[in-house]
This record gives sequence, structure tokens and C-alpha cells, in this order.
Amino acid sequence: MSTPPQGKLALPKLAEMKARGEKIVMVTAYDAPGARFAEDSGVDVVLVGDTAAMVVLGYEGTTVPVTMDEMLFLTRTVVRAARRPLVIGDMPFGSYQVSDEAAVENAIRFFKEAGADAVKLEGAGPSLSRVRAIVQAGIPVMGHVGLTPQSATMLGGFKTQGKTAKAAVQLVEDALALEEAGCFAVVLEAVPAPVAAEITQRLTVPTIGIGAGPECDGQVLVYHDLLGLTEGHLPRFVKRYASLSREIRDALENYAEEVRSGAFPEEQHSYEMPAEELELFESSIHSPSTSRQSAQATKTSSTPAKTHSPAPRSEPPLRKTSSP
Ligand code: KIV
Repeated sequence: MSTPPQGKLALPKLAEMKARGEKIVMVTAYDAPGARFAEDSGVDVVLVGDTAAMVVLGYEGTTVPVTMDEMLFLTRTVVRAARRPLVIGDMPFGSYQVSDEAAVENAIRFFKEAGADAVKLEGAGPSLSRVRAIVQAGIPVMGHVGLTPQSATMLGGFKTQGKTAKAAVQLVEDALALEEAGCFAVVLEAVPAPVAAEITQRLTVPTIGIGAGPECDGQVLVYHDLLGLTEGHLPRFVKRYASLSREIRDALENYAEEVRSGAFPEEQHSYEMPAEELELFESSIHSPSTSRQSAQATKTSSTPAKTHSPAPRSEPPLRKTSSP
């Protein structure tokens, strides 16, 4: 396996954090600004989730349609900006269900082409041999049980899992089997808190909860949900830490209003030119010969009009960094 770049959180640190009782912070991201914000906020793990289907690509209520190529594109953008956090590429539906070989090939694409530090896949049962095969290829795998959105139809929708004693026992067994298969961590989604606590206690690798109560070793939320960019219904487990969609709507409405009224742009947003150049420009453009030549140039549009415009000057670029 290649050596992680300097400053990158080493994978074994997650297990050490669990042992110390130090909570692991994970968030999803889908682009470079999101990854940079996560990095600057000290987030430990960034998941390029297949929730991208819903929060970025505009599919409603399903993660299934997002493709490998789309996930690789998004993962690359996150990898460029997230230096310290571990970046996990979420394997989309269809990329690991067919066979162990296909799963390994696609995991390698995340690792090699997109630069992800690890991959995540959903489920236990048939996913266990996929986990073993990918880990054997040298790629770390994060498991995911409970509500697994790729199989939401089979689960009867986006519902809490493990609510009966039998289903809860099955969840414990699935999580243990994922650890046994080689997962370095397991996401528990929409699982009753006592069941997640039991799993967390039994596993030596960290559990990362989303709607799984406070006893998990870490927590994950979807970026757009926690920032209030998602509109409409949100699951009960989401806590909104900001209301960015309101702010964005207000800002865009304000901008549109100011463009229409002429209030924007103001003098401070416009460029000047030296007074003598402006004078020369105005006399050039208004001289009869220039007007004739301009008219001629417009007619033929093949030969550029010769004017008395001053020699070209080298100007600084308009947008080098963030502002000119
Ligand atoms: O795709 C995703 O964002 C996820 C998280 C909800 C864990 O799998």
C-alpha cells in the first residue's frame, strides 16, 4: 500500500480514537469548497456519499441512479481539497453487487483514479465476500448496515431498522460479520439507540452513527442537511446547524432586484481608465473617419477597422485571485 501523504490522518488513528473514547467526526462532501470547509473545521472523515444522487444531482428519494463515473468525478474534487481528513468513496449501486471481481475493479478505480483513501459499501450477507476481496486487494473498506438506502425498496422505504428483537439481533450479527470480514469501521443508519450502543460495545472497530443515538464512536451527517441546504422533509435524526437555503434565496432575490433596478453594479464594482486615454478614446470614436471606418467594418466584417486607438497596453488580469 502507498504511504499516506504528510498530514493525512492515519487510518489506525480511528480505532485509537475509539479506544480513547474520543468521538470521530464524519461529514459528507461532494465538491472542493465543501471538502475545504470540512478540513478547516477539523473533520476527521469525509464521505463522498452516493447521497450525491439526491443532494447534488437532483434525483428524488433515491441514491440508485448515480454512476461510477459521476462518483469518481465528485471524489476527485473532494480529494484535491481535503488533505488531513480521510476521504471515503461511496460505491454506488451496481458497482459491487454483481461479483467480487467487479467490486474489486471498481474499488480500485476509487483508490487509483480518484485518490480515495478507502471505500464504503452497503449491507452484510452477500456484501461480506466483496469486503474480503477488496480488503485483500489492499483497499480499506467501511461497512454500512441498518437503513441501507440502495436497498430501500426491499426494506419497505426509508425506515428505521432493527426495531424488533429478531431484527436487532440480526443487525448485531451483521455488524460483527463486517468487522470479521475486514471493515475498519461500520456506519449504523437509522437504528434504535440501544441496539447501536450494543453493537458499538461489541465491535473493536469504530461505529459511525447516523440516526443511531449518542453511543456510537462517531457521527455522520449529510452536508446539505446539516447546513440547511436541503429543503422539504428531513429525517428526525438530522440536526440543522444553519439555514443556508434561506440565505441563498434571499441573496439571489436581492441580486435580481438590484440588476433590474440598476442599483447594481455601483461605481465600486466598475473599472476606470486614465482620463487622457478616455479623452483620446472619445475623440477617436466620435471622429468622422472612425465612424465611417466602423460602418465599413460592420458591413464587410472581414477586415478589422483601423482607428486612432492608442497602442495596446498591458493590463493586469481582471481576476487573478478572488478580487481584482
Ligand atoms: O451516501 C451517504 O451520504 C451515506 C451517509 C448517509 C452515511 O451513506
